[in-house]
Amino acid sequence: TANIRVADHAGACYGVERALKLARRCGAEATPPVHTLGPLIHNPLVVRDLASSGVELAETLDDAREGTLIIRTHGVVPEVVDAARARGLDVVDATCPYVKKVHDAAAQLTREGYQLLVIGEAGHPEVEGILGHAGARAQVVGEASEVAGLTLKPRVGVVVQTTQTAQRLSEIVAALAPRVRELRVVNTICKATEERQRAAAELAAASDCMIVVGGKNSGNTRRLAEICAAACASTHHIESEDELDPAWFAGAYEVGITAGASTPQEHIDRVRARIEQIMSGE
Ligand code: F3S
Repeated sequence: TANIRVADHAGACYGVERALKLARRCGAEATPPVHTLGPLIHNPLVVRDLASSGVELAETLDDAREGTLIIRTHGVVPEVVDAARARGLDVVDATCPYVKKVHDAAAQLTREGYQLLVIGEAGHPEVEGILGHAGARAQVVGEASEVAGLTLKPRVGVVVQTTQTAQRLSEIVAALAPRVRELRVVNTICKATEERQRAAAELAAASDCMIVVGGKNSGNTRRLAEICAAACASTHHIESEDELDPAWFAGAYEVGITAGASTPQEHIDRVRARIEQIMSGE
């Protein structure tokens, strides 16, 4: 008989679950209209669910003229919160506590006189928010090859975007260390991403068919799908159970399921239930 397993680490991380709870509570209790500044997470189904419970999407601050404004897990520069409060909006901060730690480390290293480098993806909202908490001279470093082109002071401080890999951090630190007198690294990588990727790879390697659940526009879900496809030829990235095709499961004994960090548990449960139905021939 067939065996359906969900990866050990799958779906919404701590920060996303927390933000979803805060947003749903705001939809029910906060001063309306309630807006999130940017999509709360990269998952169209969740954004739609939130809209039906009274939480709308504001692309910019100008779309939210009154009521309540929710800051998403990525965080923002402090000026955005100040500007929202100055307009009289109630600000509900759903910034992930792990992202807050990056902000605090960036601010502290800057205060202590270190030249601050942020390891991460230039232009990503989380990185923009981190830069806003550091001094004006903080710089983003995307990969080790960029270190040669940097003008470095004797004392350099490093913080890291939460979703970066340990390998990239090591490479950049190795390139920096010989060029400075003092290097202080605060490793602010969040383990959720790595845990999901490792568990997905293990499960995919043991599965005949692997289903990856999450927004097609979610970078971390797409990355999971790539990792699974490398270990299991029959890997399918879906947003909802409606996309499941019974043909995928013909002759499959081991079926694996994983989900990106922006996928709530309910979506995983629905996909699992639908696969059970398909495999029992209903
Ligand atoms: Fe927070 Fe880590 Fe998720 S930083 S939002 S718990 S991926």
